[in-house]
Amino acid sequence: MKFAVIGHPIDHSLSPIMHDANFKALKRDDTYEALNIPPKHFHLIKEIINEKQLDGFNITIPHKENIIPYLDEIDSHAETIGAINTVKIENGRWLGYNTDGIGYVKGLQEVYPKLENAKILLIGAGGASKGLAAALNEIVTTPLAVANRTMSRFDTWDLSVEQLTLSDAEKMLDRFDIVINTTPAGMNKNKDVVISLDNLAPHTLVSDIVYIPSKTPILALSEEKGNPIYNGLDMFVNQGAESFKIWTGQTADTEAMKTAVIEQLKRRN
Ligand code: ATR
Repeated sequence: MKFAVIGHPIDHSLSPIMHDANFKALKRDDTYEALNIPPKHFHLIKEIINEKQLDGFNITIPHKENIIPYLDEIDSHAETIGAINTVKIENGRWLGYNTDGIGYVKGLQEVYPKLENAKILLIGAGGASKGLAAALNEIVTTPLAVANRTMSRFDTWDLSVEQLTLSDAEKMLDRFDIVINTTPAGMNKNKDVVISLDNLAPHTLVSDIVYIPSKTPILALSEEKGNPIYNGLDMFVNQGAESFKIWTGQTADTEAMKTAVIEQLKRRN
């Protein structure tokens, strides 16, 4: 079968290496390539994909919402989020899914088995946060809290969550068992920590959906305080594994995928 990831920029995507490792581990002869589609060419998406005769593809920044008008069907979980990261092509029909949140939650459950009863705070209210909230809402019994810098962001939220300002969240931080940063603050060379961690309880697991760098400033600071930390690497691996499952019906070899990603990251450093 033939797969791809579309995005812009896409040169540094680890998805091809990660999926190739899975194909190899499962002795499949599938292919997975990275396709750079700048926004000005996005209207050609049908032609580009059809010419490649793909069976499915992933979508990354900045096209997760742009793809929606081109789909024949959207799965209900993805519809709640309003963003797509996986398309399955079946008899010429394009079916849209979102595996980001599910991927994150699958990994989180492994490091935090009692997730069901956890009190969780999400920082940020963009597309990534919504994906996590939708997936967490399906498992966690306590209402989710979401804190954001700009409160009008919640206007596009259908999910029921406790909406907080960043300063509300700072004040009541000790109430939470898990704090998850979904904002890009901390990515690449950005040294920002979006909220003060002064009131963090000692047991709280602090997480970031970013995995490059492996320890974002919020994770580094939390670790210094002695808190457990959890980055976004498993989320990346598991979203890919879930996409593969949607395309093929087969369970991916997540260990092989994770090893390939870690090796590649080491090579780049
Ligand atoms: P994504 O799809 O990755 O979630 P997004 O939809 O653009 O990206 O959302 C980015 C989120 O990070 C938003 O919640 C944004 O806050 P605003 O709604 O106030 O813009 C948040 N964010 C980005 N940089 C931030 C920073 N330096 N401090 C606080 N929040 C930040």
